[in-house]
Parts: sequence; structure tokens; C-alpha cells
Amino acid sequence: MSTVPKPLGLLAELTHRCPLACPYCSNPLDLERRSAELDLATWARVFEEAAALGVLHVHLSGGEPGARADLEEITAAAARAGLYTNLITSGIGLDAARFARLAEVGLDHVQLSIQDADESEADRFAGMSGAHRRKRKAARAAVAAGLPLTINAVIHRGNADRVPAMVAEAVAMGARRIEVAHAQYYGWALANRAALLPTLAQVEAVRAAVEHLRAEFLGRLVIDYVAPDYFGSRPKPCMNGWGRQSLNVDPTGRALPCHAAATIPGLTFWSVRDRPLAEIWERSPAFEAFRGTGWMREPCASCPRASVDFGGCRCQAFALTGDARNTDPVCALSPLHGVVAEARTEAAAPAEAAAPAEAAAPFRYRRHRQAAPA
Ligand code: SF4
Ligand code: FES
Repeated sequence: MSTVPKPLGLLAELTHRCPLACPYCSNPLDLERRSAELDLATWARVFEEAAALGVLHVHLSGGEPGARADLEEITAAAARAGLYTNLITSGIGLDAARFARLAEVGLDHVQLSIQDADESEADRFAGMSGAHRRKRKAARAAVAAGLPLTINAVIHRGNADRVPAMVAEAVAMGARRIEVAHAQYYGWALANRAALLPTLAQVEAVRAAVEHLRAEFLGRLVIDYVAPDYFGSRPKPCMNGWGRQSLNVDPTGRALPCHAAATIPGLTFWSVRDRPLAEIWERSPAFEAFRGTGWMREPCASCPRASVDFGGCRCQAFALTGDARNTDPVCALSPLHGVVAEARTEAAAPAEAAAPAEAAAPFRYRRHRQAAPA
């Protein structure tokens, strides 16, 4: 009998297309084209296979999932498979009629991102004029359709001082929950780290603001907080362990243990176009690569936290140390922890001399391949 744990969650990256260009997007730097995307019938099969494997909830994500004209049919297929369906959206491209239809076909929940509470700054971070106004409209439409709404606010140097205003904005939008989440430095965010990493003073101020706001909005709004990796001394248990609880399927059909796994060289990813999801989950080389604790080196191998945080994040270990088998350098026990400390020091230097937004280096905006700078 297989000892491989069963997954609970599936992140379905329906498309990399998106009208926004956020400089902290977790999508890969090489974005997939529309012509390479999985079709509706394949997604429907994947949802059935996921449910049979034990998956309980699916996150319909992107890019912007609303960029797919068949989002309603895809959502209906996920609901038919018996999955709890959560739509992760920028809100752009989804009007009242589309939200009403999504609710009708069985969508359970909406997570809508905001970039800031200040309209012009929000539009600057999104790389799209008028984006924030359209998000306000989309939020109203989602709530009017009877859908529970969570606001996602990604925090970085440029907006960290406006967390109370973002919480107020979430309340005004009719949300029941807000996730105040520091940016995670993968993909485009890593490329923009010098412009995005907050100072220690900002991190402490955000934490204090969240505590205060939780008391103020008790019973009206749930406030979740995601701490910044770079300011801790122990890493997060990324994905709750590689190949342990969840999986991603990218727009082309590749099954990945996490959204950034393709950045790690040498991993072989199997596709849902070629194989059933159960076979991929249980036997694919990429899922096997870092499953459990057997692959670990010191200091993780003999650490009492090995099966608590699983050595942190493999993608971050690769991005910052060049080897995915290393301890995540966010851990103060890592011999390479200095790379994280250096990034913090670099972030603090320019921000002390000028206002945070002015101090920010220019962004490298998320664009499709031919538009990205060399
Ligand atoms: Fe976690 Fe490894 Fe650090 Fe121990 S040494 S706390 S297992 S990352
Ligand atoms: Fe890939 Fe953390 S993002 S393991």
C-alpha cells in the first residue's frame, strides 16, 4: 500500500494572461502563451481525477482567470467534481453578469487582490491606469452575487505604511476577510526585490497595525497576516511540505509541487495531458525529489524541526544559494543565512535617506516574453 500522503488542495493556473503587470507576481519570468493553455475538457478531467485522489478544494488562479472566456464552464466542471471552488482574481474583466453566472454554476468563494488603498499608487503598482476603480466595482459585483469575498493585499516597501487604509478599503468593499501578506520573493518579486523589500521598521509597524486592527474590527472582518520570510529566524513550512498536501497544474498542464518549482533545474515534470493525476502525484520524479525528509542535508537532517518546517522552501534555497538541497537560507541555522541578512541591509540603506516610495528602484513589470526587458 502506498505511503504517499493524499493532497487536499489543487492550484489550477488557468492562464498566465493578465491585464495587470504587478512587479511582485509569483508567476514565472517566462510566461506561457494562450495557444499552450489546457482546454476545458482536460481541466474537467483533472478536476474529476483530483477529487478521486482526495483533493477537497481548488483555487482557480492565473494570471487572471477571468481572461479565459470559458471560466464559467471551468468553474462548473470543478463544482460538478465536488470540489470547493475558490476564484483568485484581480477583478479586471469580471463584471456583474459574470459574477452572477459564476455564483450560479457553483463558485464558492472569491479572493480579490488590491495593490494599495491609494488609487494612483495602486494603479502604479498594478501597471494599469484605472485598475483600482475597476476592482472596487468588481468587489461590489461579487458581493451582490452573494459570493463571500476575501481581499488579498500584498505588502511591500511602497505600500507598507497604508495597511490601516487597506483594511478600511476591504470593509468598504464588503469583504469578510483580508489577507495582509508580505510579498514572497520568487519570480517577478525576486527580480524586483531591491525595490520591494521593506525595512525592519516597516515590518514591525505592519505587525503592530495588524494587531491593533484585529481588535478594532473583531466580529466584522477577519484579518490574516503572512509574515515576511526575510525577517524571521526560521523558515515557513513551504507548501506544508513538498508533495505532501497540495499541487499546482500550470496553464500548459505540467503538474508542479509548488508554483515556482519549474525554476529549479533538473526536475522532470509530468503533464496531465499524458498521465492521470494520481500517477503524477505518487510517482513523478519532481514530486519525489523533495518529499519527506530523506533528501535533507545538514543542518536540517538532524534538526528537530525537520518534519515541522521541512527545511523551508526549496525554490528559495535554489534562488538564493544555487542548490535546492540546501537549507532555506532564511533559517538562521543555515551557513548561508548571510545572503538574507545582506538583502535586509541593502533594503534599509536607500529607504533611510528618502521616503519609501521615492526610494524604490524602478520596477521591472511583469510582461509576456517579448515585452520583458532583456
Ligand atoms: Fe528548519 Fe532546517 Fe532550519 Fe532546522 S535547520 S529550523 S529543519 S530549515
Ligand atoms: Fe517552491 Fe517554496 S515556492 S518550495
